[in-house]
Amino acid sequence: MFKISPSILSADFTRLHRDISRAIEGGADYIHVDVMDGHFVPNITIGVPVVRSIRKAFPDVCLDVHLMIDHPDKYADAFIDAGANILTFHLEAPGAADPAGLLKYIRSRGVKSGLTIKPATPVEDIRHLIPLCDLILIMTVEPGFGGQEFIPYTMDKIVQTRKLIDGLNPACELEIDGGVDERNLLSTIRAGANVIVMGSAVFREGEDPAERLKLLRSAGNGSKN
Ligand code: DX5
Ligand code: ZN
Repeated sequence: MFKISPSILSADFTRLHRDISRAIEGGADYIHVDVMDGHFVPNITIGVPVVRSIRKAFPDVCLDVHLMIDHPDKYADAFIDAGANILTFHLEAPGAADPAGLLKYIRSRGVKSGLTIKPATPVEDIRHLIPLCDLILIMTVEPGFGGQEFIPYTMDKIVQTRKLIDGLNPACELEIDGGVDERNLLSTIRAGANVIVMGSAVFREGEDPAERLKLLRSAGNGSKN
């Protein structure tokens, strides 16, 4: 069984409540929130107040917050207080000098600890941290923008990470993010991913996110319709 974490980066921000509601009705397991600061990545998106508002409007939803920011250690508390259930930061981020400490701190606050790496960062770099993680996110595009093409060589990283997780911390989730749609979803699951982030494949102008999710769910289950 795999999980789907729709990324609201591709939602209609003037109708965010409607888009999230439709995603939940369509069977979303988590809601993925992409936080970008214009420093760690060349784009600026959304921050703490939006997370807080989503939490208020959807008290039961699992908020999967992906920090693409410098100094994640400085902002962890703010996102946890706003309602994140999973908080994921980048190993490469300036200010993440003590990733083990930050992962432990996130857990100590009752939130799932997530660690992510960019496509060019080797999986070996996170081996020693896997026991401290509740979720590892393998980026399958360069972080910064929705709607990019899946980078083919990241498929091997999914396989490698699955092996490491199974040996070191089998309860840890393996999430992937970027360039996934109904055409390649099944192969990423077969490679070992169990939480799939999808933005542009879920939220499309003029289409119902709930219908898209049903189609994606059946593609991930291996049916051809
Ligand atoms: C990219 C973000 C992704 C993005 C995925 O930096 O982390 O979550 O929204 O978008 P798609 O699914 O359109 O590639
Ligand atoms: Zn993301």
